[in-house]
Amino acid sequence: MRLSFLISVLGCGSALADSACPLVDIDDVKGKTYDYVIVGGGISGLVTANRLSEDRDKTVLIIERGYFDDKPEAILPYYAKGVDESVMMRPRSAPVARLNNQTFGVAVAAVVGGGSVVNGMNYMRGSKADYDNWESLGNSGWGWQNLFPYLRKSTTFFPPSPQTVTKFNVTWDPAVFDHGPLSVNIDDLLFPDLLSVWSAWRVNRPDVPKPLDSSASIGPGVYWQANTIDPREGVRATARRKYYDPICARRKNLVIVTGQTGREILFRGLRATGVEIVSRGDGSVYQVFARKEVILAAGAIMTPQLLQASGIGPKSVLTAAGIRVKKDMASVGANFQDHPTAYMSFNLSNLSFPNPTTLDNNATYNATAWAQYALNRTGPIATGRGPAAAFLSLTHITSASTAQSISTSLLAQNAADYLPPIYADPKLLRGFIAQRAILASRFTSNTMSIAGFPMSPSGASPAILFKSLSRGTVTLNLTHPFALPVVQYNTFQNPIDLKVMLAMVRHSRNFWKLPELAKFSPVEVSPGAQYVSDEALTEALSKGGLVPSLAHPSGTCALMPEELGGCVDEKLRVYGVKGLRVVDASIMPLVPGSGLQATMYGIGERAGEMIREGD
Ligand SMILES: Cc1cc2nc3c(=O)[nH]c(=O)nc-3n(C[C@H](O)[C@H](O)[C@H](O)COP(=O)(O)OP(=O)(O)OC[C@H]3O[C@@H](n4cnc5c(N)ncnc54)[C@H](O)[C@@H]3O)c2cc1C
Ligand SMILES: *[C@@H]1O[C@H](CO)[C@@H](O)[C@H](O)[C@H]1NC(C)=O
Ligand SMILES: *[C@@H]1O[C@H](CO)[C@@H](O)[C@H](O)[C@H]1NC(C)=O
Ligand SMILES: *[C@@H]1O[C@H](CO)[C@@H](O)[C@H](O)[C@H]1NC(C)=O
Ligand SMILES: *[C@@H]1O[C@H](CO)[C@@H](O)[C@H](O)[C@H]1NC(C)=O
Ligand SMILES: *[C@@H]1O[C@H](CO)[C@@H](O)[C@H](O)[C@H]1NC(C)=O
Ligand SMILES: *[C@@H]1O[C@H](CO)[C@@H](O)[C@H](O)[C@H]1NC(C)=O
Ligand SMILES: *[C@@H]1O[C@H](CO)[C@@H](O)[C@H](O)[C@H]1NC(C)=O
Ligand SMILES: *[C@@H]1O[C@H](CO)[C@@H](O)[C@H](O)[C@H]1NC(C)=O
Repeated sequence: MRLSFLISVLGCGSALADSACPLVDIDDVKGKTYDYVIVGGGISGLVTANRLSEDRDKTVLIIERGYFDDKPEAILPYYAKGVDESVMMRPRSAPVARLNNQTFGVAVAAVVGGGSVVNGMNYMRGSKADYDNWESLGNSGWGWQNLFPYLRKSTTFFPPSPQTVTKFNVTWDPAVFDHGPLSVNIDDLLFPDLLSVWSAWRVNRPDVPKPLDSSASIGPGVYWQANTIDPREGVRATARRKYYDPICARRKNLVIVTGQTGREILFRGLRATGVEIVSRGDGSVYQVFARKEVILAAGAIMTPQLLQASGIGPKSVLTAAGIRVKKDMASVGANFQDHPTAYMSFNLSNLSFPNPTTLDNNATYNATAWAQYALNRTGPIATGRGPAAAFLSLTHITSASTAQSISTSLLAQNAADYLPPIYADPKLLRGFIAQRAILASRFTSNTMSIAGFPMSPSGASPAILFKSLSRGTVTLNLTHPFALPVVQYNTFQNPIDLKVMLAMVRHSRNFWKLPELAKFSPVEVSPGAQYVSDEALTEALSKGGLVPSLAHPSGTCALMPEELGGCVDEKLRVYGVKGLRVVDASIMPLVPGSGLQATMYGIGERAGEMIREGD
């Protein structure tokens, strides 16, 4: 690793394949039988595979669509400011009616390590309420108390230097981390203007808690944010680097094949027995077999497609696509959730040195930063994006009485009026109504974050809606079932989502008017201060700045009782068939009020243990 890494940094070459791990050819794998066949080598797939392969007498095959990626973009924390499109698949979404019929490129990573190789590296866990909501939906053993040990087990924490801690009053809670594979840090390089932003919260919002650490899942509050970075090496900490590279040479019972797409699950009767693979290179088709189980870890966009293409999904869809129905299940591809985000921005003046724009604007600073990185892998290039954020409840962004009235109006809705047609299925509808009851009661408490505001003294000020009531769908392309699926976001189909988003935008506007921030003379650029009424603001946002996704797709094969439109049971087994589990973000019945990666590492840990124990 080290050699090509340094060569890359010094600009002499970029993509040397130097992994110490044996590269396995599809010819060595085709037609063979493994105990477990895992489709998808992203976060959940690699974590689950790591734990399963601890049993040396069990064989594990991972089928991964992408390749090993050793480019600087996959390694240097600096590059998290953008997304390396060369490893992304971007199915184009269906038009979003409430967003002026715009279509959007859906973020699906196709690389060994999955989302962890391209994501923003923010490490945050959901609040207790987020996980307890899952348990309240009838998933016993899936509340915070049960999940926390796995969230903790996956991580090791690295604080910034004592000088930084003192200067910025950085806090964290060592008790919520362990000595796990995934390194999580808080950056040593923090920008001086952050002190003004924090002070704006402290002085003006005593009602908003300032807990020690978001990883303690305390609930809404203003927090320092951790990153998945290994500060000892100054590199991005990915599922590949932390859960696969360290074991791959030793564990002969663990094999990954890359550039291979799992396109159909093979069955004998209703038992999954293997996977049909199509090679990205030349389109050849192979089969591999599973003695014990097939485990789906292809992510919340691709897993429902694979299930549907294999005959497990809504009968109407399968029949229209000419696929023989093995199990009619409306839940596969329904309940799709993400985090719609308004990319607000402000022009700020009089920023201190350095600030988030200095690398781009100051050639001397930039040159010094790269030189420092080459020397000892510290400094700006080894630093993450977002060091702090506010996670707020509905009462925090509106008022107790407005939150109450929103909650009441939600419960008064005829739910089916604001859901996609698949919710004519009575089980799905019952499940949504159960979700709604839980969310409505959380809306009036301060236990669940419904909005996220990353805070950076750069003027970029996204407003993230964590608890959409609208539900999207993922379905196969009826004429080309093996092509990329059709993603329907349905953003803001439920008008309450828009109402909450408008409150969030106004909250941010007011925030930037606080006296502690006056020295920056903030000027609203997007959507623009001239848009004041609900109508004007809605129109401006829907034409630009507002996107349906923060790359947090989830929920499309939900963990819930089958009578509530669930797709997998408490052991993550797909209902109605044998030998088939799902372990990726599809299983989240309600999306947490946070990024998803922390939770996915925890779920992978838990799934691995559950499957090993033969549960
Ligand atoms: C651009 C971006 C930014 C993000 N930023 C953050 C962030 O800052 N913080 C945070 O917490 N979360 C973030 N996320 C989300 C987080 O990374 C994902 O939620 C997480 O990776 C999901 O884990 P997963 O195991 O479900 O799927 P993934 O990690 O996406 O893994 C799925 C894997 O399956 C493979 N695959 C798919 N279909 C097939 C098939 N048919 N056959 C074989 N292989 C297949 C894919 O190539 C991929 O490697 C971000 C995601 C993206 C894309
Ligand atoms: C969006 O598309 C639908 C269906 O084609 C159409 O009825 C509607 O008028 C369009 N909306 C806008 C704002 O263009
Ligand atoms: C530092 O953080 C602690 C814990 O959140 C808080 O109690 C204290 O008031 C903070 N001090 C300053 C100077 O911000
Ligand atoms: C910063 O330095 C790097 C490495 O020399 C160079 O590739 C990049 O273009 C520079 N960026 C700016 C904005 O000067
Ligand atoms: C540019 O960066 C250098 C240090 O790298 C610093 O000394 C100088 O003051 C900076 N210039 C401006 C305009 O901030
Ligand atoms: C790394 O190098 C920079 C100078 O380029 C220096 O300021 C810094 O202290 C060094 N850090 C470590 C950990 O060696
Ligand atoms: C289905 O796939 C075909 C071939 O890739 C494509 O032309 C068509 O637009 C897709 N249909 C939808 C609804 O995405
Ligand atoms: C610019 O910032 C400095 C220090 O942060 C502050 O003292 C000064 O008042 C600010 N200038 C203006 C014009 O607001
Ligand atoms: C924001 O700043 C940019 C660059 O200085 C300028 O071009 C633009 O007009 C400003 N926008 C507003 C709304 O002030």
